[in-house]
Amino acid sequence: MKNFTRLFAIVIALFMLATVAVGCNKDSDKEEGKKESKEIQVGIVLPTKDEPRWIQDKTRFEDALDEAGYTSEVLFSQGDSAKEKTNVEALIAKGIEVLIICPHDGAAAAASVEAAAAEGIKVIAYDRLITGTDKVDYYVSFDSISVGKAQAQYLVDKASGKKGQPLYLYAGAASDNNAFLFFEGAWTVLQPKIADGTFVVANSTEAITLKDKAKLSREELGKIIGQVTTDWKPEVAKSLAESNLTSAKADAKGEVLILAPNDGTARAIADTFKSDTAVTKFTVTGQDAEVPSVQYIIDGKQSMTVFKDVRTLVKDAISMAKSILDKKDVDVTAKTNNGKKDVPTKQTEVVTVDQANVKAALVDSEYYKADEFQNLK
Ligand code: BGC
Repeated sequence: MKNFTRLFAIVIALFMLATVAVGCNKDSDKEEGKKESKEIQVGIVLPTKDEPRWIQDKTRFEDALDEAGYTSEVLFSQGDSAKEKTNVEALIAKGIEVLIICPHDGAAAAASVEAAAAEGIKVIAYDRLITGTDKVDYYVSFDSISVGKAQAQYLVDKASGKKGQPLYLYAGAASDNNAFLFFEGAWTVLQPKIADGTFVVANSTEAITLKDKAKLSREELGKIIGQVTTDWKPEVAKSLAESNLTSAKADAKGEVLILAPNDGTARAIADTFKSDTAVTKFTVTGQDAEVPSVQYIIDGKQSMTVFKDVRTLVKDAISMAKSILDKKDVDVTAKTNNGKKDVPTKQTEVVTVDQANVKAALVDSEYYKADEFQNLK
């Protein structure tokens, strides 16, 4: 009997152990499942891999997120809002906790970020603002008004000094809020020179009509941008520049000034103006310090670029994501209204780069390696 009781006790104990073990397994299965669905913590969506600018961002993000110890995935939308939405949905399905997104179209992206917010995901608008929704938690960007001001100031500084110098205006895509900010910044510097006849706008009747207005409304900016948009595409910039030069009168050639919104469009526009023999000299702006444009600057084919240190922007976006994941206060410096809310914002300054400081600003600062360029002095 005593033996039987002992045996019975052992059987019960083994049974209990087995139950606990199975229970444990279940829990760890649950943990596993949870881990699997939470595999990606930070999802990043960028507008296109066809522009060196956004490849810079991808590389810097991957380096910095790896170092910070976060799992992440970068997806490109290839200039297509529908693909952008699918990208966001794919990242939501992977369990991301933070979405860092640079929209192709600032208004159209509202639906995607609303879908993310509905899953409790925090949204950081990266470089370009997302408009018309209150579901953007934060915004990290460069000071885009300053970008336009820096471009315009360069043109003013390099002007011939002769009254009536031709000025060609070009802008980014109207679906990108930044295109408005760049143009607005440029206009504040160029407008007094257009108003007093120092510069004569050669390719926008809307700009000529508005030449006496120091501050333009969004609608007025839209009218000018509508005539001079490149859609951020070098091929559009090239054909617009070609048609502008074809219809330009003789006095709109000679020594000219060109406001080009970024490096990709600047190279296309510069090549077009260079091939017109009636254009004797041109000063052309840019933005992004893309490697091919840095080479253009070294070679004297593009006059300047506005350097936006992507390392800083990426660092800011990641430290925001880190604060969100650690449930700490997020460091912001300003607010930006997106039509629905004042979005807490962190802004970064920009630097004008031309032949005089190209080496110091971009190579000595270790942003690029010297061997990426030829004839760098
Ligand atoms: C960015 C620029 C870029 C442009 C075209 C803008 O929103 O701020 O850096 O050149 O988009 O992609």
